[in-house]
Amino acid sequence: MQPVSDRVIDSLRSALGPRGVLTARDDVAPYLVDWRGAHRGDARAILRPAGTEEVSTVVRLCHDAGVALVPQGGNTGLCGGAVPDSSGEQLVLSLGRMRRIRRCDPNDDSITVEAGVVLRDVQQAAADTGRLFPLSLGSEGSCTIGGVLATNAGGTGVLRYGMMRDLTLGLEVVLPDGRVWDGLRTLRKDNTGYDLKHLFIGAEGTLGIITAAALKLFPATPRRVTAWVAMPDVASAVAMLALLREHAGDHVSAWELMSRQALDLVLAHAAGTQEPFRREHAWYGLLELSAPRATADLDATLETALGHAFERGLVTDAVVAGSPAQRKSLWALREGISEAQNPEGPSLKHDVSLPIGDLPAFVERAGRVLEGVLPGVRRVTYGHVGDGNLHYNLSKPVGATDADFVARAGELSGAIYDAVSLMSGSISAEHGIGTAKREAARTYKDPVELDLMRAVKRALDPDDLMNPGKVLPPA
Ligand code: FAD
Ligand code: MLT
Ligand code: ZN
Repeated sequence: MQPVSDRVIDSLRSALGPRGVLTARDDVAPYLVDWRGAHRGDARAILRPAGTEEVSTVVRLCHDAGVALVPQGGNTGLCGGAVPDSSGEQLVLSLGRMRRIRRCDPNDDSITVEAGVVLRDVQQAAADTGRLFPLSLGSEGSCTIGGVLATNAGGTGVLRYGMMRDLTLGLEVVLPDGRVWDGLRTLRKDNTGYDLKHLFIGAEGTLGIITAAALKLFPATPRRVTAWVAMPDVASAVAMLALLREHAGDHVSAWELMSRQALDLVLAHAAGTQEPFRREHAWYGLLELSAPRATADLDATLETALGHAFERGLVTDAVVAGSPAQRKSLWALREGISEAQNPEGPSLKHDVSLPIGDLPAFVERAGRVLEGVLPGVRRVTYGHVGDGNLHYNLSKPVGATDADFVARAGELSGAIYDAVSLMSGSISAEHGIGTAKREAARTYKDPVELDLMRAVKRALDPDDLMNPGKVLPPA
């Protein structure tokens, strides 16, 4: 990696024009810190190409000059992947000007979009043609297609539709030497060798810059029923998934879990939210069944399923949304959790997954161990229970200082990851590794797997110029 010379900046400016290169400190500053303010870096310039050819030119110029690039989309990532390091020698490449929907074809059930298109705009474009693009996240108003691909994002629709990897048909990628790989096919079947798109999905920008993607569309699901339920424990949430599927099969499109502590933060910090029941409960679930127009009586299915759940004691209270506004306010209780943690000071995020049946034992074990490490530490537990994915986040004990809490971060995260590892889980279910979990990856990932990942990185990016310092722990 070389320091960025004036000559390189001048060549980039002549390639991209004045709007394409930001160097004034006030313009650069917002790109140097992540959404939570948890990761900060420095960069001499922000590059904002307007199309694939310009990305290719930028990457080639930087490759020839030995300058490293950090791709950035909406900067909503949660593990520091889109933020440059503190050397000031990396440049940020923002895809924010690449917002074109190139093609939306309901007959092919596909949509082809540029990497900087915001997720909500893809959902809307699909809806405008009577289709559904089912990826749904709390950050969908800001995160980009490039970002959700590079992190293989999940969200609340995974149990029905899969993660971003499952929703992708083809990619266009600018490789670390500036060549463009045009893999933008919309074919459902193509067995002509290695499926290269999967290398770039989830690579967090370490193998190349995704410039466009062809994505799958599904039938729209205007029929929806949504319920918020109270449960005595996590075991009930696991049993509920089986029960819901017995009754509703593939119509189950969301099954989310929240602890009382998570709900308390939302009620305290998210404007307009309301306590869902007259009394407090230990655990809550948000469930949704959905279907295309003419199929299934979802209200009756939900009523029967909830009846059985009450009989078995899995559910102790329930409210069914009676209008779109009520549905929205139930979802606000779930989607507000991420932001509601911020006013409570630093939070340690643990985005883990386990075999679904092991979630109750994990919650019990991790809770016990953490109480031994830091008595009173607040566990903000919630997540995509239908995918075995818990956001097992920690906030400082009431009365503790931020500094005292942060000083214990390594010990606290280590205790959680040890429990995850003992139970054959993953230390990152959906947010990725970035810089935040790079050292944990060294400890908890199979060394053979890390060797293979390093071999792929060397083959595609031998000079280590694509988002260096992210994902892979140094050998
Ligand atoms: P950025 O943050 O800009 O970048 C993320 C990573 O991708 C970085 O490593 C960056 O270098 C790389 N990258 C970005 N664009 C490109 C590109 N074009 N080519 C190559 N690499 C690129 N995640 C989930 O999975 N599920 C959730 O439910 C979820 N909920 C969230 C809720 C909130 C409120 C927030 C703030 C975040 C949430 N996330 C969730 C985190 C999630 O990772 C991001 O929202 C999203 O995937 C990142 O998109 P982005 O465009 O902001 O990417
Ligand atoms: C979510 O599901 O709300 C996010 O992935 C979790 C988070 O912000 O920690
Ligand atoms: Zn999540």
